Amino acid sequence: MKVTDLSIPESVKEIIIRSGIVELYPPQEEAIKAGALEGRNLVLASPTASGKTLVAEFCALRHILEKNGKVVYLTPLRALANEKFDEFKKYTAISKADGKRIRIGISTGDFDSTDAWLERYDIIITTNEKADSLLRHRAKWMDEISLIVADEVHLLNEAERGPTLEVVLARLMQINPDMQILALSATINNVEEIAGWIKADHVTTEWRPVLLKEGTFLHEEIQYKDGDARKIEKNSTNSTINLALNTVKIGGQALIFASTRKNAVAAAKKVAGEMAVVLSKPARRSLEHEAEKILAAGERTRISESLAELVRCGTAFHHAGLGGGHRRIIEDSFRQGKIKVLTATPTLAFGVNLPARTVIIQDYRRYEPGYGYYPISVLEYKQMAGRAGRPKYDKVGEAILIAKTADEADYLMESYILANPERIWSRLAVERIMRSHVLATIAADFAHTERGIYDFFGRTFYAYQYDVDAIKSIIAKILKYLYDEEMIDVSGENILATKFGKRVSELYIDPVSGVIIRDAFRQTPAYLTELSLLQMIAHTPDMGPILRPYSQELDEIAVFMEEHREEFLVDVSDEWEDRIAYEQYLGEVKTAMVLKAWIEERSEDEIIEKFRVQPGDLYRAIENAKWLLHATHELAVLFSRKQVLPQANELLERVEKGVRKELLPIVRLEGVGRIRGRILYNSGYKTIEDIKVAKLDDLTNLPLIGPRLARKIKEQVGGYVKKQAWEKLEEEEWKQKALTEY
Ligand SMILES: Nc1ncnc2c1ncn2[C@@H]1O[C@H](COP(=O)(O)OP(=O)(O)OP(=O)(O)O)[C@@H](O)[C@H]1O
Ligand SMILES: [Mg+2]
Repeated sequence: MKVTDLSIPESVKEIIIRSGIVELYPPQEEAIKAGALEGRNLVLASPTASGKTLVAEFCALRHILEKNGKVVYLTPLRALANEKFDEFKKYTAISKADGKRIRIGISTGDFDSTDAWLERYDIIITTNEKADSLLRHRAKWMDEISLIVADEVHLLNEAERGPTLEVVLARLMQINPDMQILALSATINNVEEIAGWIKADHVTTEWRPVLLKEGTFLHEEIQYKDGDARKIEKNSTNSTINLALNTVKIGGQALIFASTRKNAVAAAKKVAGEMAVVLSKPARRSLEHEAEKILAAGERTRISESLAELVRCGTAFHHAGLGGGHRRIIEDSFRQGKIKVLTATPTLAFGVNLPARTVIIQDYRRYEPGYGYYPISVLEYKQMAGRAGRPKYDKVGEAILIAKTADEADYLMESYILANPERIWSRLAVERIMRSHVLATIAADFAHTERGIYDFFGRTFYAYQYDVDAIKSIIAKILKYLYDEEMIDVSGENILATKFGKRVSELYIDPVSGVIIRDAFRQTPAYLTELSLLQMIAHTPDMGPILRPYSQELDEIAVFMEEHREEFLVDVSDEWEDRIAYEQYLGEVKTAMVLKAWIEERSEDEIIEKFRVQPGDLYRAIENAKWLLHATHELAVLFSRKQVLPQANELLERVEKGVRKELLPIVRLEGVGRIRGRILYNSGYKTIEDIKVAKLDDLTNLPLIGPRLARKIKEQVGGYVKKQAWEKLEEEEWKQKALTEY
């Protein structure tokens, strides 16, 4: 079937053909035949790289152009949302019936808002979590969704994030019974069950556009699943390095999956040491440029320096410990073929299109604290393997599992390469996870009686697979908790959310966090300091995984705790009564200490060194702290705790900017962050007024403040600048530019 044969608007066909797609892939054809374009619900389960997104594109454009519809595209990862946003952008050239251009929106951040502006968009790309929060606010435009695309729907099986997706789909089905659902998935064992749940047909294929050769690697030999074998030149004693170098030598790029961040970094370092022989001079020059970009993005730290050093050797690592800016540079640079070997944790395992001719899976086991080692699922293996051999980039791909013994090689062949992916099971029935969904069901008016709540949960995938009776006892327990904590009220048959319950639900925080914050307000510590609030939010479950203290640090934390005990809003657990709770507590105090160091303007590098945290963890702690301080502020409004308000507000801003209080007025200027703000301040520009009267030249002469920024700053404060001064500046800028280009 050709694109021209499709019953979709001509303007859409033109754009698709222009992007290089003329003929449909067989899975796409089957999806069309199954009625995807006629609005039928469909689960498309098809191998990696088989072009599932395009089916969603066809359906989306048909909804918008022919049915005046609205489309939401759900993805599990921000990185994938960004990639899809870039892919959909090409359609903004098309005009709709009302003459307006198609508008594509992306919304992945800020959980406490209805994002009313999204109403204007035709296609909205978002993460499952963001969609969940929008539903809690009952964003009005969500009632108008006519097509929902659930990408990577096998995620239902994931313990932490599956339930969110499940609840989002159940709620959307409830409020929009006529909406079309298109679920995209890797090949899984019980597609028909997911299809049964969402009342869909299903299409399953085994077709892949690019040959993916899967195999194991032992004693410098790849053993493929079809019986073929291939020897690899031995350059070092390390199998991963030999495989990666071999790929680069024949003109390809390699992606190595490691089980931990530490292993990913170590592998990148080893590979980098061997890359000199395979890099040409021009390649090295362009890598030098990429390395400079890494150093220029954000503060300079030991991590950005070591990353830049690796990039100079055509290698890099990618994991959640890196900041978003660095991750994007690395992704782009790998996409452009500059970085040849990339090591990653599973952050790159799902959905993304990358030019990896060879995927190397170093370790099929994963470690979880308190749980030990466990082998990854076949599904996850297939996802990682599927990053190799993407049609845009390669004619053939290889996915290789490293084995250490002959037995292990057999095991890997049997249990992964030749194995069928697992069944998908709902993970909803966990009290900790259901708590906020039960509250949201009541608070956002999805149900008003116990029966209604059971009815709603009766529509979930869990109830489809098991039986709603199986979770009734969990729901009853949660209702009791919410009642005892005054988040819900009961009158006869009716259950209603109190103002507290409603606000907690909208703020998208765990009810337990809401209770911690409320109870803290009731405490009157000797003095309420910034640390009081930081320690309180660090204690909430929404702060995320705690920053684990290392052993040499324990004494220092304990001393800090003693010194500041009077400021704390949450009681210290007794070391001897409950050792586990005590250690958890130390971790929370460490999180508070890290945030305190951040707002006291300790440099990122100092924080990394002192606390042994990585930038990504620091940024996540900052993000979560902002969100929880916002929640604190809102709950303080609700409970009329006036003394907390200014403090919560100020602290929120300081955490956002990473500065001491005195810097706040000047870092509000665009282009002035914590470092430049400090430079200005220490040079005597302490207020907006100081900057207003400053001479342009004087600003320009400060370190890290070039002519362009100086001008931007002056424009913002409204200080008068003479025409000659502008002209002189422009000339200087021009000269500088000429110099750097030379
Ligand atoms: N009919 C086609 N002809 C040529 N290229 C195509 C066609 N359909 C899709 N592609 C290209 O194939 C690549 C892979 O598509 P896509 O990302 O949709 O795969 P997928 O099935 O979603 O894989 P994954 O399961 O890994 O997410 C994209 O680069 C896309 O542009
Ligand atoms: Mg995909």
